[in-house]
Amino acid sequence: METQVTQKGLDAYWMPYTSNRQFKADPRMIVGAKGAYYIDDKGREIFDGLSGLWTCGMGHNHPEIAQAVGKQLSELDYAPAFQFGHPKAFELAERLTELTPQGLNRIFYVNSGSEATDTATKIARAYWRVNGQPTKTRIIGRAKGYHGASWGGISYGGIGGNRKIWGQAMEADHLPHTWQPSQAFSQGMPKTGAELADELLELIALHDASNIAAVIVEPMSGSAGVIVPPEGYLQRLRELCSQHNILLIFDEVITGFGRTGNYFASQTFGVTPDMICSAKQITNGTVPMGAVMVQDDIYQAYMAAAGAAHNIELPHGYTYSGHPVACAAALTTLDLLEKHQFIPRVAELSPHFERAIHTLKGAQHVVDIRNFGFAAGISIAHRDGDPAIRPFEIAQKLWQSGFYVRYGGDTIQLGLPFCTELNEMDRLVDAMGDAINSVS
Ligand SMILES: Cc1ncc(COP(=O)(O)O)c(C=O)c1O
Repeated sequence: METQVTQKGLDAYWMPYTSNRQFKADPRMIVGAKGAYYIDDKGREIFDGLSGLWTCGMGHNHPEIAQAVGKQLSELDYAPAFQFGHPKAFELAERLTELTPQGLNRIFYVNSGSEATDTATKIARAYWRVNGQPTKTRIIGRAKGYHGASWGGISYGGIGGNRKIWGQAMEADHLPHTWQPSQAFSQGMPKTGAELADELLELIALHDASNIAAVIVEPMSGSAGVIVPPEGYLQRLRELCSQHNILLIFDEVITGFGRTGNYFASQTFGVTPDMICSAKQITNGTVPMGAVMVQDDIYQAYMAAAGAAHNIELPHGYTYSGHPVACAAALTTLDLLEKHQFIPRVAELSPHFERAIHTLKGAQHVVDIRNFGFAAGISIAHRDGDPAIRPFEIAQKLWQSGFYVRYGGDTIQLGLPFCTELNEMDRLVDAMGDAINSVS
């Protein structure tokens, strides 16, 4: 199938997080998908090594989701999200609370990961206000953390370059990231680095806990190149937050719904936060949706503080919060995750993936490999002072040989579809070896 895209069309679309000039000179056009594969405009099958953008873990084009979405569109295409409801939003909320860690029983719907972290941090700040502690406003993120592209996300997010281009936004401070040279080539969770959680004490000494609303971290960083938490690190962070009356938010936009071998990384790593942010995999990437899962106590505090019953307790939300079509897609996604036992499959097959990906140790330019569940990150040595050039070249070679992977900074990232077969993992790793060895 030849691409129908015109030069005018190429010029008109300002693509997000994309090197527009390079793409438009050499477009990579995706026209179809099936299972773990994309189909490009030349009819080639391309293995989807990042499950879309960590979105489509169950593989693509499940007919059950298409049917559910079609049915929903013909029954109820939209219902107002404010002051009115539709049954599927409540049904989905109930289903989600059966999957979340204990106590996270209140579901607030959003449409993206950025909205999820904005929502969780707003809920955290106003929670302290309704509790009579209005000075607790600062959000603590972590270096290298990605929490979305909104003003909030780029503030408590710790992506290098954001402040260089956007300047300051909301008040935030940052823990150090958890990667240390001693962890290089760790398989799964690094053994060292738990003490980095104690850096929170330094930030508390600086800002005082009376001014800090919440700590937000990805339990496992994805966009930074898959940085796996050191053993004991998240437990220590939880202890410190509880001791100092600071809410702990886990951004599980990438890890939620299966990536680490459980529904949530909170369960895999055995640490329960006060809120979880989710999106992406909640509808298998089919319809934009996200959800913030909130501890009962926080919800109850809002209810208790709002006065008369007709008062709105949390003046926040989006036109498309809990959209009926998104709810239909999410309910079917949950059915399919369960029916096909995708999540136990991730847990069962991740040791094979771990072994396979670590065979790239020793390949030229590879300076670190990290992995957990169906995720892995590979760091590549910089060339001529440019961290991004080799990962870019490697990813382009892989695209040419039929594999889609993500490249960002000096890393290549993998987030395999949960349906990946063992021989597909091996083929991907072989192709990566070839691509890495072919760049100068
Ligand atoms: C951990 C994390 N949080 C938030 C986001 C932002 O999600 P969205 O792009 O849907 O706004 C992302 C996106 O990759 C993410 O990885």
